[in-house]
Amino acid sequence: SQAKPRHLVSMLELSIKELESLVNRAAYHKQQIRSGAVNTTQPLSGKTVSLIFNKRSTRTRVSSEGAAAYLGGCPMFLGKDDIQLGVNESLHDTTKIISSMTSSIFARVNKHSDIQEMCKYSSVPIINALCDTFHPLQAITDILTIKESFGNTTKGLKLAWIGDVNNVINDLCIAALKSGIDVSIAVPSGLKFEEAILSGAKEISAENGTTLKITNDPLEAINGANVIVTDTWISMGQEDERAQKLKQFEGFQITKEMISKGKAAENWKFMHCLPRHPEEVHDEVFYDEERSLVFEEGENRLYAAIAVLEGFVVNKGKLL
Ligand code: CP
Ligand code: NVA
Repeated sequence: SQAKPRHLVSMLELSIKELESLVNRAAYHKQQIRSGAVNTTQPLSGKTVSLIFNKRSTRTRVSSEGAAAYLGGCPMFLGKDDIQLGVNESLHDTTKIISSMTSSIFARVNKHSDIQEMCKYSSVPIINALCDTFHPLQAITDILTIKESFGNTTKGLKLAWIGDVNNVINDLCIAALKSGIDVSIAVPSGLKFEEAILSGAKEISAENGTTLKITNDPLEAINGANVIVTDTWISMGQEDERAQKLKQFEGFQITKEMISKGKAAENWKFMHCLPRHPEEVHDEVFYDEERSLVFEEGENRLYAAIAVLEGFVVNKGKLL
């Protein structure tokens, strides 16, 4: 039987060096594509890359399909109304079948346990394209975006997250700590990180000499921050909690006033994985061309997806 494939589930499984290497490869592909160089090596030529998506997506879908095409493969999008999964067929049977015919599977699912199950049953690499606990493609992208914006280094920066406890910050926090970035998080009181994330983060900070602070005060988190980040307060699947969450997040909208009161670093930048709603960040910050990296960050999703497909599928998980 074949060797077990290596999957990309979260930032927890990557070593510091492996994350750095993925980010560097993403930067390399960006430079190639931007310079108009033609990609003559098509390592996935003749192969399909499947995308099993149980939730909506703009960036992840476009970047994953684009990455597959760039590497010569044929992307195959399987939305939730396209295949038998969930109605007529189990995750086990679906994963076994699709992995027997395709080179790899990008999977966007609800529960983290679904990703874990798919990893167990798949004969090809599973790339987590977002679950309720992690969003690794976004985290790799965000480290690339930070690195480019701060003179090709991430070391010694401070990142502030003002927002929810969710998939995006779970992975971003781990990735930042692994990249030499101190992390300071403000969440409304009552919201707690999962123990596994916290212990993972603590281990990494100790190893890498970075710090992680969690508070309920946005101003405290912003103090001295070079990068200020947020995401929606209402993640996909939480639509019913909207009214309650809007109340819980009162005072958390990122504004110029908050940033100046909190005394961010002189060179502060703003990031958001998108899609964005005005309640979590005011237009004056989101559309500030000097400060906001959001559209560059969005574009960078393509280069991160190429680096991941190359690392996990073409190079079979050998990232160094
Ligand atoms: N940031 C992100 O993952 O966006 P999509 O949900 O549009 O893929
Ligand atoms: N936290 C958001 C991220 C969307 C890209 C969600 O899960 O909906």
